[in-house]
Amino acid sequence: MNGMPQPYGLLAEVTHQCPLHCVYCSNPVELRGRQDELGTDDWVRVIRAAAALGVVQVHFSGGEPLVRGDLETLIAECRGLGLYTNLITSGLGLTEARAHSLVAAGLNSAQLSIQGDAAESTNLVAASKRFDKKEAAARIIRDAGLPLNMNVVLHRVNLDRLDAIIDVCVSWGAERLELANAQYYGWALRNRELLMPTKAQLDEAVSVYERRKAELAERMELLWILPDYYEPYPKPCMGGWAQTALTVAPDGVVYPCPVAAEITTMEFASVRDHDLEWIWSKSAAFEAFRGTAWMPDPCRSCPRKEMDFGGCRCQAFALTGDAARTDPVCMHSPDHHLVQDALDRANQEDTAGGETIRERLVYRRPTVSARGR
Ligand code: SF4
Ligand code: FES
Repeated sequence: MNGMPQPYGLLAEVTHQCPLHCVYCSNPVELRGRQDELGTDDWVRVIRAAAALGVVQVHFSGGEPLVRGDLETLIAECRGLGLYTNLITSGLGLTEARAHSLVAAGLNSAQLSIQGDAAESTNLVAASKRFDKKEAAARIIRDAGLPLNMNVVLHRVNLDRLDAIIDVCVSWGAERLELANAQYYGWALRNRELLMPTKAQLDEAVSVYERRKAELAERMELLWILPDYYEPYPKPCMGGWAQTALTVAPDGVVYPCPVAAEITTMEFASVRDHDLEWIWSKSAAFEAFRGTAWMPDPCRSCPRKEMDFGGCRCQAFALTGDAARTDPVCMHSPDHHLVQDALDRANQEDTAGGETIRERLVYRRPTVSARGR
């Protein structure tokens, strides 16, 4: 495709339905309803088109992808095309029979999320009392012969429990654990005051991570996803806009990243109206922030512009209302005070302490978009 980057990953958000109510949910604030979801044939078409574009990995996500009864059909399609498949799941609803049928269809790996090391933290963060189901899901995944990858979102409420969280994942037999510090867009932005860790908490957590990573080197891979508000420079989000991956939402709208649905000033195209190759290579939304020509100052004249690509477009939009601005995380950004103010508040106030945190957290609600068709 003539110098056009090739995507290697497809995030197939097959549904927004979910049994959890996480306070940092990364799905759009307005969810797509079940009636708007692509059907099986549409998804098969998307998978074939993604493979033709160069995609080699398909991550089935949601919401909770297990609520889709046609996952096996989609996974089998991927297998036929030689694509690696990964299931990103809360584990709720996973039975032994389902795990075996997914593996029989060709599923290659599963990533199980937890919210903390015990029932109380799961309940506090996700309004779910089913921590026992997560432990059962870990066993089912392993018994089905799949590698067990785990993920936990870290924030002010659970960061002090990092040692215990890692212990749980070790005892459940995880081979890989992603320690993902919360990113503040969408629903998480609503709870930022309560979820933002203090600098002291974070420093302690980094030392726990480094100690456990060395201790567990032979047994489990630990990954640390940076809490970017505390970094001087932004993350090179998605390896740059529309460079390496694409996300197809439940209703067929295609985004360069899973959060971009929040950028309400841009028009994203749907596989219902356009083919995936056109969306990837020619649509205005995908072209908007490719490369460096779009960049404003200070990025335009910055030696780091090919390293971090001006940061995250979704974060720029979430904090400034303009997706084309320098990511406010950057210390050179004219909007950096927005990040610094949030950090100052997090380090001055006991924002998450006390008995009332449960009442103060805003839990994910199934707000369904009227945009559906
Ligand atoms: Fe990155 Fe732009 Fe900041 Fe330079 S000015 S470090 S390119 S975000
Ligand atoms: Fe969308 Fe960073 S999350 S560009």
